[in-house]
Amino acid sequence: MDRYLVLNGPNLNLLGTRNPAVYGTTTLSDLDDACRDWAASLGVEVDTAQSNHEGALIDLLHQARLTHAGVVLNAGAYTHTSYAIHDAIEAISIPTMEVHISNVVERDAWRQISVLGPACVGAIYGRGVDGYRWALRHLVHRQEWPVEVMRYADHPDATIDVRRPRDDPPHAAVIFVHGGFWRHMWTKDTMEGIAIDLARRGYLTANIEYRRVGTGGGWPATLDDVAGAISHVAALEDVDRFAVIGHSAGAQLAMMAADVVDVAFLPVALGGILDMTAAVREGLDAGAVAAFLGETPPEDASPLTASVGPALVVHGSADDRVPVSHSRTFAASNPQVEYLELADVGHFEFLERSSTAWNHVVNHLAQRFGV
Ligand code: DQA
Repeated sequence: MDRYLVLNGPNLNLLGTRNPAVYGTTTLSDLDDACRDWAASLGVEVDTAQSNHEGALIDLLHQARLTHAGVVLNAGAYTHTSYAIHDAIEAISIPTMEVHISNVVERDAWRQISVLGPACVGAIYGRGVDGYRWALRHLVHRQEWPVEVMRYADHPDATIDVRRPRDDPPHAAVIFVHGGFWRHMWTKDTMEGIAIDLARRGYLTANIEYRRVGTGGGWPATLDDVAGAISHVAALEDVDRFAVIGHSAGAQLAMMAADVVDVAFLPVALGGILDMTAAVREGLDAGAVAAFLGETPPEDASPLTASVGPALVVHGSADDRVPVSHSRTFAASNPQVEYLELADVGHFEFLERSSTAWNHVVNHLAQRFGV
């Protein structure tokens, strides 16, 4: 079984009491326990370590290269200064994920610079202690299924992770549009588990990134990116049947793309934000819609106003992030929508490939594409 190292740097021993408004109330020992549980659910093991000393962190990284498949590293303030840790990460050549509990990009200017970033395989920040779980998940996914990274435009977010089925030609291509209220700290890593699941089931999967609020996104740049990425995938050889699966805010983008992209595809919304007027009224995610669309949202940014043909809409009745009424209203407005409301399902279950919620989606795609 693969082992990963979760390594914490200076001052993280004080988690739980240190600036709880920024770092929360979870202690380091609770976090270490949680990491072990997350690892077990991913079928791997973790060791945990913490040090306040730069040299000790470097020694631990060196040792990990012989014993571990990868490292989840929160180097604390060394992130912003330590070229020595950068060099250690580079030297050990096992994948290292950078993690920060807080939203470093929206704090002091000096925290916005990571000298470790270029040596790491990715960074997760601003998702609280849950960020360690996402980071571990990403390392396991990297190991599980190789990706081919494609670019569809010049900016840094214009990337697509393509995963091809191992044997026969693909049944269809499925494009994933991640959610996260269009905010920069949420990225395509959230969709990897289900993308791998569909690759294993014989689909070509394309997990897209796009510019978000804070990385040059907004309206309509974000939709332009999603449309550009879908067109790019549609031009790939060997595939002529498509679905675009959007989760949460990604569902708004998938539905809007159905209106503007010159390629026929089945849009699929999972826990989708589909009624933008309601989203403003509800103040979803502390004003996320206003941050994305501006104070006066344009009418044509709502899937309710888009011209969408056949679509699949799935929502959990226990979703506490995006009210189920979004999908009910959308389904009622379009007779071509197949609507599935799942009792007791929340917002994130769709992203877990072992969940019954995801299984509903898999079955629907199999029917649709005659698999
Ligand atoms: C931190 C952010 C760093 O800027 C800070 O120095 C830390 C913790 C985080 O987890 O948010 O010690 O890495």
